Amino acid sequence: MKLLVINGPNLNMLGIREPDIYGKQNFKALEEYIRNSADELGHTVTLFQSNHEGEIVDIIQSAYGVFDGIVINPAAYTHTSVAILDALKAVGIPTVEVHLSDISTREAFRQHSYVSMVAKKTICGLGFEGYRRALEYFL
Ligand code: DQA
Repeated sequence: MKLLVINGPNLNMLGIREPDIYGKQNFKALEEYIRNSADELGHTVTLFQSNHEGEIVDIIQSAYGVFDGIVINPAAYTHTSVAILDALKAVGIPTVEVHLSDISTREAFRQHSYVSMVAKKTICGLGFEGYRRALEYFL
């Protein structure tokens, strides 16, 4: 399948950013992991990362009619962005939500996800492996 993988703000800082929570591997390693997993599973992936909410809305809108599925780690926008939720609803593309950490056991403000309201599945707390599981969902 043709899948769009979106990573939100500060995920480009992986490896430097709170390694006790998000791990010691950097963002380039995550991108390689996703590409390799997609190859093994027979998917074609396009990777996108942005620190800007509007850019994430734009890429979701541009996915309409182009991609069969979306894998998204909206990062901090998970907990705040009605705009990303609305964009996902607008395009109606099946979406799987991924979080490296287990947001259900962290601070109270991380325990609500707008994207979960539209996601077919939410995968949390598995680190990089969560992205592979999300790609497997689309098999
Ligand atoms: C995150 C969890 C969010 O709460 C946080 O803001 C992130 C990363 C995760 O992958 O665990 O930036 O989405």
